[in-house]
Amino acid sequence: MRFKNTLFLLLFFLLSSNISGQQYTDDLGAEFHKKKRQEFRNQMPPNSIAFFFTSPIMKRSNDTDFMYHQDPNFYYLTGWREPHGVLVIYKDKQQDEAGLYNEILFVRERNEYREMWDGKRLGLKGAENMSFDRVLLRSSFDENSINIKNFSNVLNMDIRDDVRDFKDDKYDLYNIQNKFLEIISAKEISENLGDQKKEFKNTSINNIMSNLRQTKDSLEIKLLTKAVKISSLAQIEVMKAIHGEMTEREIQGIHEFIYRKYGAAHEGYNSIVGAGANSCILHYITNDAVDIDNQLILMDLGAEYRGYTADVTRTIPVNGKFSEEQKEIYDIVYESQEEAIKKAVIGNTFNDIYIESFKIISSGLMKLGIIDNIEEARKYYPHGVSHHIGLDVHDPGSRTLKKNMIITVEPGIYIPENSDCDPKWWNIGVRIEDDILITESNPINLSADAPRLSTEIEILMKQESIINQLDLPDIDN
Ligand code: GLY
Ligand code: MN
Ligand code: MN
Repeated sequence: MRFKNTLFLLLFFLLSSNISGQQYTDDLGAEFHKKKRQEFRNQMPPNSIAFFFTSPIMKRSNDTDFMYHQDPNFYYLTGWREPHGVLVIYKDKQQDEAGLYNEILFVRERNEYREMWDGKRLGLKGAENMSFDRVLLRSSFDENSINIKNFSNVLNMDIRDDVRDFKDDKYDLYNIQNKFLEIISAKEISENLGDQKKEFKNTSINNIMSNLRQTKDSLEIKLLTKAVKISSLAQIEVMKAIHGEMTEREIQGIHEFIYRKYGAAHEGYNSIVGAGANSCILHYITNDAVDIDNQLILMDLGAEYRGYTADVTRTIPVNGKFSEEQKEIYDIVYESQEEAIKKAVIGNTFNDIYIESFKIISSGLMKLGIIDNIEEARKYYPHGVSHHIGLDVHDPGSRTLKKNMIITVEPGIYIPENSDCDPKWWNIGVRIEDDILITESNPINLSADAPRLSTEIEILMKQESIINQLDLPDIDN
């Protein structure tokens, strides 16, 4: 009886503490975000203040929104996943009646009715468990609550290409954000600054954020490794399952089903699944071709796991065997990637990787008689070879490699119809893309699970996939 009571009390305590201390699933944890805020502060210029705004909610159609996705800089520094928030970071400690502080997170209020429709909000209480110096409601954030004229440098998000949210009239943070931008870019402010006049600056946060985000902590490497592994396993399953009657959409669906099966919330970017002519469109996302048999199919997809996104491409023959021409082109891209990956070492630049890949692609195309001089190769290999990955598929960072960066190596050859070469090469598009961890010794290919060698792909494609046992009724006849 006593034991039962204790158990009851313990359960009650656990449940009630969970209600008041609601948290998100966050594998990085409050300490990670706090450490990153301090690292950001360390790089802020003297007497400066920085503003970060959450991503807007974006309308999809009528009263339906796109799935909410937090701004990656905001997430990196806070772990906060809700809209309508502002993070303010001060270089130096500030003081008011309530005490000392050097950061404030402004959050939206709780709302029982909205939570019934849209899900839980953490509110002030939830944020209080997340190691912020100070948390306030967004209603106390307005253009008068912080006297930015006290600072000689204001650091801001670069929102040139962004579409901000205008849905919440009551506390329209995004209008306030725009007002802020106007105030700090207005001439009068520097004129009113007196002695500080010459020093006042309005700077982008991008440089500091890029310095921080470009090399990954061990927790981030773990999450990215998992995102890449999931994406590679999806490539493997598709290699086994694919056949000539499938459609681009169906193949996209198999990848994305496997992402969810492993707990990835969604894709890190729009999935690219293009066969034949579509394989030559670099960022083809329509994925609606239905007649794909006997063609090469280019599949560039990445699972987003706990915010971190992979970016993996495989190009395979739909019918399981490369034609002579497909194999010639494929093997050049493979060799180019093999050699390029070897250049992914500390101190080298993206350009060193590119030059290596370009050398092999251009000489390969020359040998096949597709081009007559080396420069022409750019026509068929028109993109760069590397970028960082992380919270963004194109993560910020320097082009010079350092330990614990994770980058892609992704050469390609694309020969659209009507190209100036023998028509037997037309509509062949090949990209092979892997995610590479830069280490003190050899680069580590995180996506090595998914075969790249043409002969290995053909062997794997002979295997059966359980996916093909799915027997759904015909609804068209
Ligand atoms: N998936 C886009 C890229 O490869 O950069
Ligand atoms: Mn990429
Ligand atoms: Mn890609």
